[in-house]
Amino acid sequence: MLMPQPGSAGVHRLMPSRTFKHARIMIVDDEPANVDALTRLLDRNGFTRMESTSDPREAEHLYMKLRPDLILLDLHMPHMDGFAVMDRLNQLAEASYMPILMLTGDMSPEARREALSRGAKDFVNKPFHTDEVLLRIRTLLETRFLYLQIQNQNQMLEAKVRDRTRELESTQVEIIERLARAAEFRDDKTGRHAERVGDMAMQLAREIGLSNRMVTLIRSAAPLHDIGKISIPDAILLKLGKLTADEFTRVRTHTRMGARLLSGGSFNLLRMAEEIAFSHHEHWDGGGYEGLSGERIPLVGRIVAVADVFDALVHKRPYKPAWPKPDAVAEIQRQRGRQFDPSLVDAFLRVIERMPTS
Ligand SMILES: [Fe+2]
Repeated sequence: MLMPQPGSAGVHRLMPSRTFKHARIMIVDDEPANVDALTRLLDRNGFTRMESTSDPREAEHLYMKLRPDLILLDLHMPHMDGFAVMDRLNQLAEASYMPILMLTGDMSPEARREALSRGAKDFVNKPFHTDEVLLRIRTLLETRFLYLQIQNQNQMLEAKVRDRTRELESTQVEIIERLARAAEFRDDKTGRHAERVGDMAMQLAREIGLSNRMVTLIRSAAPLHDIGKISIPDAILLKLGKLTADEFTRVRTHTRMGARLLSGGSFNLLRMAEEIAFSHHEHWDGGGYEGLSGERIPLVGRIVAVADVFDALVHKRPYKPAWPKPDAVAEIQRQRGRQFDPSLVDAFLRVIERMPTS
């Protein structure tokens, strides 16, 4: 039952703003007369989107249909009281923030606490004064729209952060690619070896089921495997004949030197590149530069080892001609369980199998 306020000045002041006019308001009250009175009041005050039910069992359905900005909810109703309605609504995942205005007769402090704990935001005692109802509705709608605004801003900020992160990652990848190209430039003017090793490492990583994130990282980190070679003098690096034992010892330092150059990186890509630089000459059987064996060799190092050797075999080097592809594949296979991780050789053979013959 509504009790009209004397005079109209107060009511006029409460006319809804343009935003509030479109607020979706849901009314749940078992007394059709109350529903009618509230609907008329809202209508008179410029609200345009009200829906109501006098059967509380329909509240859930109506909520899903209307997605209200405000719920006017009676407490004492047959079949389901206002508490039970709130419990149902609280179970809906979508109901993240629901302003509920409880319409009630006398309410004990316990019942109020109960209602608040279930999510009621405010109360109006029946019979209510129109001004008071409108004021409380306005206050709750203000909170509701501020909440939506903040949620919206948060989503925009999150999207912005995602964009910036992507930008930052692609900048990192670009710089790393240029660095790898620079490192390769002295002994491979095309700079393509590093890139091809990256491609093959990526295919192997995908073949053994690594996550997309890891596959992308290894694609960018693998080309830096030989970055440490920038510390090797031209006379050794570009020597056409066989290397002396001392020269070979010097060449072997490129793994440690590369790891040192890349150490202390603050992003995952650099940390992975460091691991690869250090371990790409390890052998599965322990016969590599540092004597690591089996799974003690980082997986990324084991992957790049296969990719690096295969690419070196099928391309011309100052000290050797390019091997025919079948011979290179046979050599990789021969090193299964010796130089290379057996499961990676298997993955390599599957990748090669699928490649178009050239
Ligand atoms: Fe190397």
